[in-house]
Amino acid sequence: MQQQSEAAAAPSSAWAAGKGSALMSLRDVYKQFPSGRQTVRAVDGVSLDVLQGETLGLVGESGCGKSTLGRVVTQLQPATAGSIFFEGKDLAALHGEDLRQMRRRVQMIFQDPYGSLNPRMTVGNIIGEPLRNFGLAHGKERDRQVQEIMRVCGLNPNFNNRYPHEFSGGQRQRIGIARSLILRPNFIVADEPISALDVSIQAQIINLLEQLQDDFNLTYLFIAHDLSVVRHLSDRVAVMYLGVIVEVANSLELYDNPLHPYTTALLQSIPVPDPVIEKDRTPIILSGEIPSPINPPSACRFHTRCPIAQPICSEVRPELLDYGNGHLAACHFAGKLQGSLAEKVAEESVAEIRAAIVADEPGGVDGATPVTA
Ligand SMILES: Nc1ncnc2c1ncn2[C@@H]1O[C@H](COP(=O)(O)OP(=O)(O)OP(=O)(O)O)[C@@H](O)[C@H]1O
Ligand code: SF4
Ligand SMILES: [Mg+2]
Repeated sequence: MQQQSEAAAAPSSAWAAGKGSALMSLRDVYKQFPSGRQTVRAVDGVSLDVLQGETLGLVGESGCGKSTLGRVVTQLQPATAGSIFFEGKDLAALHGEDLRQMRRRVQMIFQDPYGSLNPRMTVGNIIGEPLRNFGLAHGKERDRQVQEIMRVCGLNPNFNNRYPHEFSGGQRQRIGIARSLILRPNFIVADEPISALDVSIQAQIINLLEQLQDDFNLTYLFIAHDLSVVRHLSDRVAVMYLGVIVEVANSLELYDNPLHPYTTALLQSIPVPDPVIEKDRTPIILSGEIPSPINPPSACRFHTRCPIAQPICSEVRPELLDYGNGHLAACHFAGKLQGSLAEKVAEESVAEIRAAIVADEPGGVDGATPVTA
């Protein structure tokens, strides 16, 4: 019998701090929005662990539900259903001071630093506002803490009386980061924190986030559109498609040995810096638009665009199964459409793979067989 992924089991209530334990756990989480008489299924049954001290990259095409998942995790929006555990405690059971402490320790960094900063407030007041809201520091002590975090984030502490429009895009993102850090959180959801910035500034912000992770012992859920951004930054990567997680793996493993056809297609859409390899590559082009989350495809969400889809794919929802070492994939034919970032999966081989699996049973290929109980 196939063993279901760790992600589906309830987390232990005896949470112990330490690298490797799940700091944040989601179990069968849903988030739906009304849209007229219909329902947008933005997050549609996600189970996922974010481990203490790690950076978990979350990638997927626009509209697949990444930001919604981030807002649900940080409690900016309530989940429609499912359970979220922080440090082993069910958030639904937290009240009063426990809930306040959880809100203090879980923060979000946004994509658009300008849009998330109040233009009428000085930078010092913007960064210090959470301290005031939580009643943690006043007057000179608040100023001191604000200037200290400005310095840590690479901002001139003497500029605390200036306004957001007086800063560059990169500096404004540093202001957003300083504000999210002032309460000394241990978990941060960074929602595309560099995608609005010039390429030359992006590396500086990435370096800052990495430095802060070491200095403040932070755990990140790092959201990005594309796998190239999260590659070097993430310890593990989760791939999302139309409200569901389709693959999770150690970062290197995911790039070298993707098991889900969607991940393979995403990887192959990234240009390879080596011009010789790039010239020979024939990326799998994802056919068709991403379907609407109002009426998503049945069973495997990806079957309308998958180059190797079979009848079972539209009939039976594939579970997220563990293929070894925590490499999870939700595909009836996991690992059949191989091809790492540097390799191509040519059209002829896709046709061959399709022909081979028509006569085959669903399940993984050699090296991609679910861990059995
Ligand atoms: N408040 C809302 N009301 C209605 N629909 C919403 C709301 N927020 C998000 N959605 C819908 O939920 C789906 C997921 O949106 P979300 O912003 O989470 O995607 P995303 O993966 O972050 O996309 P992007 O990469 O473009 O930021 C989309 O179809 C979006 O239109
Ligand atoms: S379950 Fe079928 S349609 Fe879905 S990704 Fe796997 S092969 Fe493609
Ligand atoms: Mg988003």
